[in-house]
Amino acid sequence: MVNVSAIILAAGLGTRMKSKKPKILHQVAGKPMINCIIDQLKKFKLDKIALVVGTKEAMHNHDDSRIKFVLQKEKSGTAHAVLQAEKEFNGYKGDILILNGDVPLITYETLNNLLKEHRSTFAVLSLLTAKVPGPTGYGRIIRRQGEIFKIVEELDADDYIKKIKEINAGTYCCKGDYLFPTLKKIKKNPLKKEYYITDAIEILNKQGAKDRTYTVKDNNEILGVNRRHELARANMIMQKRIHRKLMDSGVTILDIDSTYIEYDVKIGQDTIIYPFTFLYGKVKLGENCVVGPFVQITESQIGNNVRIFQSTVTGSRIKDDVHVGPYAHIRDNTILEKGSGVGNFMEIARSTLGKKSRAFHLSYIGDTKVGQDVNFGAGVVTANFDGKKKNKTTVGDGSYIGSSTTIIAPATIPKKKKIPAGTIVKKK
Ligand code: UD1
Ligand code: CA
Repeated sequence: MVNVSAIILAAGLGTRMKSKKPKILHQVAGKPMINCIIDQLKKFKLDKIALVVGTKEAMHNHDDSRIKFVLQKEKSGTAHAVLQAEKEFNGYKGDILILNGDVPLITYETLNNLLKEHRSTFAVLSLLTAKVPGPTGYGRIIRRQGEIFKIVEELDADDYIKKIKEINAGTYCCKGDYLFPTLKKIKKNPLKKEYYITDAIEILNKQGAKDRTYTVKDNNEILGVNRRHELARANMIMQKRIHRKLMDSGVTILDIDSTYIEYDVKIGQDTIIYPFTFLYGKVKLGENCVVGPFVQITESQIGNNVRIFQSTVTGSRIKDDVHVGPYAHIRDNTILEKGSGVGNFMEIARSTLGKKSRAFHLSYIGDTKVGQDVNFGAGVVTANFDGKKKNKTTVGDGSYIGSSTTIIAPATIPKKKKIPAGTIVKKK
């Protein structure tokens, strides 16, 4: 969309999180809260995103040059925070969305509805409101003849105002050329000694400029994370959304309550997820896979028709038609080529298992390149570590490694070699 930018307010101290790290970096479904918001904003094709932060630490790397970090040194309130971003918007005449950095569940659809309402009514400032049963802590919406007149914060509210259930969600849309001049007119709140962005409403109203509201349809979207129990709730709601999206796209999840799937996981059609499956980080699962029960996969790519059960896979690639488990640990850049199989108390690290190679029983394969159609017996160990460094092993195509063989690396086993059970392979 043209002529839209955003300012995200995230300089608050987040004291209630009782954490050493900035609040916006706490994760929801494996993604920092702030990135959840930025992901939604990016759907607008924004001109610019200004992120107002309170510490340099919160300015973590972002690959997008449209994101400008702005440091707010003193926490003098939400209006003051927005004003810090003024230099990024010199002469900008588009619409500026302003969001709190601690509302990770907000969606593009809602922000877009707010923007549409704002534009179609020619409003100067529009904001998102919600009707909630427990409005305590939020700014209350005061209306006159149906139109929003002002916002009163909890601290300044009398008993009558405290009963109002329509609240300010903390998401605004303002015409760029009005925003900063209006904020400069705001006076310090005498009780909290802060400049409130919410005071902009009354100022604009008195000038005869138009304010509008858009009521959010799903109150979950405006959940503000101030404490860890709210973070847990945000995670739970995000899980429901992720599950729903996957199921709608043709994935079967047998038990949603015991299945944890992070934000960046992609799963192909007709894959079935059994209970107690945990998928962390960037995981790609192909079509027609059967995964679980009791599987943990982190940062890995899995092909089609793969079966994984009771196993852990980390930072690895598993190609089509592979069988993993039970009780296998596949880790650190391991590649299992098409049609290979691993199971029953196996550990494979930094290794490649060639097409149709099999290692099914109680073995350790580390720093090893295994060719095609190799068979490992039970209890094969590559002794890859000499106390100082890891050494490599190569196993040629079609070899057969007998049970209880120890291969002392560095070692090379030629093609079609048959190694009897109990051998110690050692370079002479
Ligand atoms: C604010 C609104 C309130 C609304 C609520 C919705 C004001 C005065 N009140 O209250 O009407 O119902 O959000 O959640 O705006 N921040 C800064 N710098 C500051 C102060 C705050 O960057 O100096 C950031 C915070 O990190 C946070 C956001 O602004 O992301 C909102 O601040 P917070 O103190 O949480 O405001 P609320 O009391 O929740
Ligand atoms: Ca808040």
